Amino acid sequence: MELKDQVLDALEKNKGAYLSGAALASQLHVSRNAVWKAVKALEADGHTIHAVTNKGYCLAEEDDILSPAAIKKHLSELAGVFDIDVYKSLDSTNTLLKKLAGQGAPEGKVIAAEEQTAGRGRFGRTFYSPAGTGVYFSLLLRPDTTAADATRITTAAAVAVARALEAVAGAAAGIKWVNDVYINGKKVCGILTEGAFDMESGGMEYAVLGIGINVAPPEAGFPGELQDIAAAVASTAAPGLKSRLIADILKRFWHYYKNLSDKSYLADYKSMSIILGREIDVLTVDGTRRALALDIDDDCRLIVRYEDGATGALSSGEVRIRPAK
Ligand code: BTN
Repeated sequence: MELKDQVLDALEKNKGAYLSGAALASQLHVSRNAVWKAVKALEADGHTIHAVTNKGYCLAEEDDILSPAAIKKHLSELAGVFDIDVYKSLDSTNTLLKKLAGQGAPEGKVIAAEEQTAGRGRFGRTFYSPAGTGVYFSLLLRPDTTAADATRITTAAAVAVARALEAVAGAAAGIKWVNDVYINGKKVCGILTEGAFDMESGGMEYAVLGIGINVAPPEAGFPGELQDIAAAVASTAAPGLKSRLIADILKRFWHYYKNLSDKSYLADYKSMSIILGREIDVLTVDGTRRALALDIDDDCRLIVRYEDGATGALSSGEVRIRPAK
């Protein structure tokens, strides 16, 4: 870890309180001048650090720049499980993490960014990822399972996000099959899981779980095409909310992931579904089919009844909720 990251780590643990330059220097086995330079580098990165003679340095309470230290602080006993890198701007956290996965990065690697310039969504869409108001991160998994489990990873992640939004932000979140998280009828989070398979065994080489959340409304508002369908979790992002959300999602997801076969997330997935009992449009390559969403089975397939009375079990794809009559 670079010295400036170690200094940030120490300041983050004492956020809002002063740590003397001498104490930091002795803790990190460097000179006071080296600590001062690290603080200057952190300020150049945008951090707000108060420096007071005879008191030392203090990371301001309102400092809200995402950092590994800020996230780890909330990970408690799981802090050692995740190796987190945070970028100011990236094209896509999924793209970088897939590259690292191909180079052998271990399970638990997390890439987060304050902004994505080419955030990717499902079906080749873009995911709007403006600076400062969202949370964009990807987690590398090396599941000892088959491709079929990819769906479970995504659905477990949707539950982790929805529960974290309730716990950390006090928001009433629901899940729209397969993996969009909604608040008040609008999408606040999208999840994109991408993987590579071992052709020989049929097992998964890795999965990259990417999660994007609109935490606060973008400064310039949502672009026209998103205005009616996207929303943010809160009206403003309180300092620390983004790091707490990431940490809470990682903790919840990790629990589900380690117990994927017992499907402990499934009951929550169903109970948080905003689609069951609703009239929907099933979007297929051949067009749109109107249906009623009846149930979600143990493999997270959506059970539907089409207008002609036929039933179907959808394992992937996209549906749109029809406005209530
Ligand atoms: C969707 O709604 O279609 C899925 C959106 C997934 C967005 C996240 S943000 C972090 C990660 N990096 C990406 O480029 N995409 C995912």
